[in-house]
Amino acid sequence: MTRVGWRRIVAWLLVLLLLWLLLMAAMRFFANRGPAQQVAVTPQRLAHGRYLAAAADCAACHTDPGGAPFAGGVPLGSPFGTIHGTNITPDADTGIGRYTSEDFFRALTKGEARDGHQLYPAMPYVSYKTMTRADSDAIYAYLMNQPAVRRQNKKNGVGFPFNIRSGIHLWNLLFAGADAVSASQGASPAWQRGRYLVETMGHCGECHSPRGTLGQIDRDRPLGGNNKMGRFAAPDITPAGLAARGWDAALLREYLGAGVSARAVASDEMLKVVGLSTSKLNDDDLKAMTAYLLGDRPAAPRIVQTVNAFAADPGRDHYLNLCSGCHGRDAQGVPHVAPALRDNSSVRDADPHNLIVAILDGLPEHDFPGYERMQDMPGFAQDLSDTDVAALSGWLRRSYGGQPQAIEAATVAKLRSSHGAH
Ligand code: HEC
Ligand code: HEC
Ligand code: HEC
Repeated sequence: MTRVGWRRIVAWLLVLLLLWLLLMAAMRFFANRGPAQQVAVTPQRLAHGRYLAAAADCAACHTDPGGAPFAGGVPLGSPFGTIHGTNITPDADTGIGRYTSEDFFRALTKGEARDGHQLYPAMPYVSYKTMTRADSDAIYAYLMNQPAVRRQNKKNGVGFPFNIRSGIHLWNLLFAGADAVSASQGASPAWQRGRYLVETMGHCGECHSPRGTLGQIDRDRPLGGNNKMGRFAAPDITPAGLAARGWDAALLREYLGAGVSARAVASDEMLKVVGLSTSKLNDDDLKAMTAYLLGDRPAAPRIVQTVNAFAADPGRDHYLNLCSGCHGRDAQGVPHVAPALRDNSSVRDADPHNLIVAILDGLPEHDFPGYERMQDMPGFAQDLSDTDVAALSGWLRRSYGGQPQAIEAATVAKLRSSHGAH
């Protein structure tokens, strides 16, 4: 081909590019105009929409604690930087007031904002993609009848190259289409309802499934646990994982309904999930959720025996000095003071992550959605060396958790130094 021929092709390409950019700009311009929507709603429909919005936990990322409901500004950590939940009140200029129910459904299930820009997968459209149109419409009707709040969205702290949103299209192509793989076996109506509540609405896998290097959900080990998201690990909640730590349906319902059970007390991210979402579910839906988590034929919960808890051991000395006053001499717990550590899920967990973090950081005071209230637990990072924490947590796991392996001081050191990184 001649030189002139090449020039011509390049010129045409430039013209096409320019036209494309103009088209995109025009789309955004008109998208930002569009009429503000008015949505009529009956009290029943409003209540139904509120219920579904709680089941899908929209508030977790769109309501800043202390801020107006759904007005956004919630900072969310991601592997690529801080991303903020946006204003989804019906304000026409700073919120979603111009969204039609169709636009809204596309944002929830495809991750496309109304002006066509691609949302970051921090908005869990990968899970919501199986949400029914009817449920999306009910949530839409509910949100569009909340008070409109004028609040500009916050700038995101996402650095180059992840601030180029077109990259997300490629990511979507690779990962967003994959279907959730069921974490348990079943076919009953309760199991199927539970699957929808867990995988789609509750988007539990966004935290509880491990992730691959590009932040995608690892479909090979659904709900298999993830200790790389926040300060606390989201434990393995597959049927096998739950049975190994002694969970049954009744205990799970208590935990998801109120945040407290004989196996564990919800803290950190999970306390928020319980407070805003699972505690608002009715009994049938809680039953469905646990039916899905355990499967139609649940494995018998494993029973662990207390082993040699009174033999001399440096871990035991630390326990008697620092912990027994609240948790009881034989780790049996003290009503309304501190939960039992004997048989506690974090003591029984094959991954010692949450046990070590609880000892290092302590836990804040809790107001649980139900009846229970608990004081805070102090952190022991100052009082105990890595070796001390390793001895203490190793002893607790060996004596009360059915986990005989020793804990390395290096494991504690790593969790100590990752503090503040989140
Ligand atoms: C795990 C956090 C999370 C949850 C849960 C969540 N969102 Fe989002 N959402 C986000 C983030 C973050 C963004 C902004 C993403 C961006 O800037 O690319 C967003 C964006 C949106 C948008 C686009 C808004 C705009 O500014 O154009 C809509 C609409 C939306 N979310 C609605 C919902 C609804 C409704 C629910 C519940 C059914 C929900 N979200 C649940 C994190 C979340
Ligand atoms: C935003 C992240 C996040 C989401 C979403 C989430 N979880 Fe969790 N979950 C956690 C963390 C972190 C823990 C550990 C909390 C602790 O140790 O107190 C946890 C703990 C749990 C536990 C207790 C496990 C144990 O053995 O101690 C169960 C059960 C559970 N989650 C179920 C669910 C279900 C069901 C959903 C969906 C409705 C869900 N989680 C959604 C982060 C999350
Ligand atoms: C001042 C009383 C107090 C002391 C001392 C104390 N704890 Fe706690 N601990 C609590 C309370 C209260 C909770 C539940 C708090 C919450 O979840 O907010 C708790 C929770 C825990 C949990 C999490 C349990 C769960 O279900 O998630 C672990 C693990 C734990 N403590 C271990 C220890 C160890 C080990 C020591 C000694 C180094 C210790 N605690 C000392 C009061 C105490």
